[in-house]
Amino acid sequence: MTPICVVGGGGYVGLGYAVALAELGHQVVGLDIDADRVERLNRGDSPIYEAGLPEMLRRTLDAGRLRFTTDYAEAVPGSDIVFLCTGTPSLSDGEADLRQVRAAAASIGVHLQPGTKTVIVNKSTMPVGTAERVAGIVAEHAPQSADFAVVSNPEFLREGRVLHDILHPDRIVLGGDDADALAAVTSLYEPLGAPIMQTDHRSAELIKYAANAFLATKISFINDIARLCERLGADVTVVAKGIGADERIGPRFLHAGIGFGGSCFPKDVGALTRMAEGAGLHPGLLRSVLEINREAQRRFVARADELLGGLDGREIAVWGLAFKEGTDDLRDSPAVEVVRLLAERGAAVRAHDPAALPNAAARLPEIVLREDPYDAAEGADAVALCTPWPEYTAIDFDRLKRVMGGDLLLDGRNMLDAAKVEAAGLRYVGIGRGTRPTPTQAVVQAVPLRSS
Ligand SMILES: NC(=O)c1ccc[n+]([C@@H]2O[C@H](COP(=O)([O-])OP(=O)(O)OC[C@H]3O[C@@H](n4cnc5c(N)ncnc54)[C@H](O)[C@@H]3O)[C@@H](O)[C@H]2O)c1
Repeated sequence: MTPICVVGGGGYVGLGYAVALAELGHQVVGLDIDADRVERLNRGDSPIYEAGLPEMLRRTLDAGRLRFTTDYAEAVPGSDIVFLCTGTPSLSDGEADLRQVRAAAASIGVHLQPGTKTVIVNKSTMPVGTAERVAGIVAEHAPQSADFAVVSNPEFLREGRVLHDILHPDRIVLGGDDADALAAVTSLYEPLGAPIMQTDHRSAELIKYAANAFLATKISFINDIARLCERLGADVTVVAKGIGADERIGPRFLHAGIGFGGSCFPKDVGALTRMAEGAGLHPGLLRSVLEINREAQRRFVARADELLGGLDGREIAVWGLAFKEGTDDLRDSPAVEVVRLLAERGAAVRAHDPAALPNAAARLPEIVLREDPYDAAEGADAVALCTPWPEYTAIDFDRLKRVMGGDLLLDGRNMLDAAKVEAAGLRYVGIGRGTRPTPTQAVVQAVPLRSS
């Protein structure tokens, strides 16, 4: 059992780690400057929507292995390992904003306990070279006799599966050059049974950005192919299946739609672009990835405009506001951008989301919110599905047709069964679906090709 402090312990990553490390048997204190969150967390009330989090939070609080505080003086001394999980949002030029990291590093430094060695684990996504800067800030504020080392340990979890991904990682990346510190962090992760890769700080930091940039590139690639499918009369879902079956490519992150969002992909691709520019390079690919992504939302709204003969005064139901299914996170959500673009063209928007309505009420007061997808669609000229919540596949399309004023269903995630939608008398429009061969047609067409 290791005494651990998680700085930023009220956020998506920090809270996930605080709870998961306590679940693994460690003594954890989650530290956050957000006093309201800390108070809620100490009551066992999770401020974040994540599968399994409320139960694991209460279990570890009740077991006495987890608590939350706003006070560095109470949390840092006595902790052998301090996880740094504060946010690294984007500045207006795309560069990572390191203010939270700098403030946290300074506070950690001030409260380091002389006489014991503290390992600081950089868990936040930080530009290449930040580990050295964190070490410098900590040293500047620490008592002279304080002993510490920094380990870079980027995080690859997906929101919506935070606890699952923390407890079942594909790999652990540890960067640094202090053997004792690397050994201490390695022993924390060993029970998870994942491969552990040790490297230098800079490679570890870059692995995180390169991983997100690669995944974002796959999404923008298939969205670019979707554009071509619309022009050439092909179906991008069939094309994606065909290329994804190649094991060198793989089927994941090849879902055409209104693009990626969230607190990571856009900001990390932006930050990597800035890092490349700062290094004197011209990151054309990364810039295109971001531009194709922005274009995906603009094209979706332009399509609605074209199909409805104008958006001014139209009523549109938007299904899904979170940036993806399984989370209540609205940060950089493509759905929110679609709402903004619809409103800009004069449409009246009513939105539904299974989990993000409380966040939407607080952050997007201009949107009319509905707790039921059919209520949102009442009298609407069109429904625009923007977040791939599995709930939407269970929609009764006959009922939907009865409540809507119009008949247009725009599937921004290509997740609905078009035949079912059309059987209810609705017009189905997906992304990149110039034609939609039935699965049987697709197979029949494939046979002569294979045998020739
Ligand atoms: N969210 C994800 O899916 C994800 C995945 C992988 C990596 N990351 C990275 O992890 C980091 C954290 O992301 P997040 O989504 O958890 O952010 P978040 O905004 O949800 O959480 C950050 C927390 O840090 C707290 N904080 C800010 N300044 C502080 C300070 N000086 N001292 C103590 N607490 C402070 C905030 O109050 C907040 O609760 C980012 O670098 C992000 O890029 C996020």
